[in-house]
Amino acid sequence: MNPARRMRIRRAIPTDIPALLALEKQAATAAHWSQEQYEAAFSSEGPARVVLVIEDSGPEDARVQGFIVGRAVREDWEIENIAVAGAARRRGLGTRLLEEFIDLARGRGAQSIFLEVRESNLAARRLYEKHAFVETGRRKRYYREPQEDAIVYRVEFA
Ligand SMILES: CC(C)(COP(=O)(O)OP(=O)(O)OC[C@H]1O[C@@H](n2cnc3c(N)ncnc32)[C@H](O)[C@@H]1OP(=O)(O)O)[C@@H](O)C(=O)NCCC(=O)NCCS
Repeated sequence: MNPARRMRIRRAIPTDIPALLALEKQAATAAHWSQEQYEAAFSSEGPARVVLVIEDSGPEDARVQGFIVGRAVREDWEIENIAVAGAARRRGLGTRLLEEFIDLARGRGAQSIFLEVRESNLAARRLYEKHAFVETGRRKRYYREPQEDAIVYRVEFA
């Protein structure tokens, strides 16, 4: 069976924050948030965010292997981060997270989804392109450490 099929996706809860931070540390190209920023993502104040995790399905071995976080700005949604554990990459987990996020956003009335990604991050760019995201812009020197342009991708559903 495809390994990604044995995993389950669920909404993240605040006790997942240490796992999210650990995953992010393994992923230099991911967006980096502080513990406080993740806590704010679960708070009822501020913009409403969707955080999904993918984990091994067994009750004993449940281990978060990836996550995606995004938010809605009216009908325009943004993917703010996605990361899969280093050892679990290229097995379809990122695809499952992205597809679940897109379904959820569309189910809630999203007309479009956009995101920014490092220009050199070909793994993520190919993943987005496979899901009909198209390049719509560039933000010069958007990232630091190392400095790099961001490519803006967008998918429209209307
Ligand atoms: C981007 C990321 C989430 C993809 O997760 P993943 O579980 O490995 O992705 P999948 O296995 O579902 O791959 C789906 C497709 O993406 C593309 N892809 C994924 N990794 C790739 C790589 N290293 N090189 C080229 N294409 C790649 C391929 O088209 C792949 O399909 P294929 O395996 O059939 O060829 C993962 O590489 C990651 O965590 N990277 C670090 C964090 C990061 O950069 N996040 C993006 C922030 S904008």
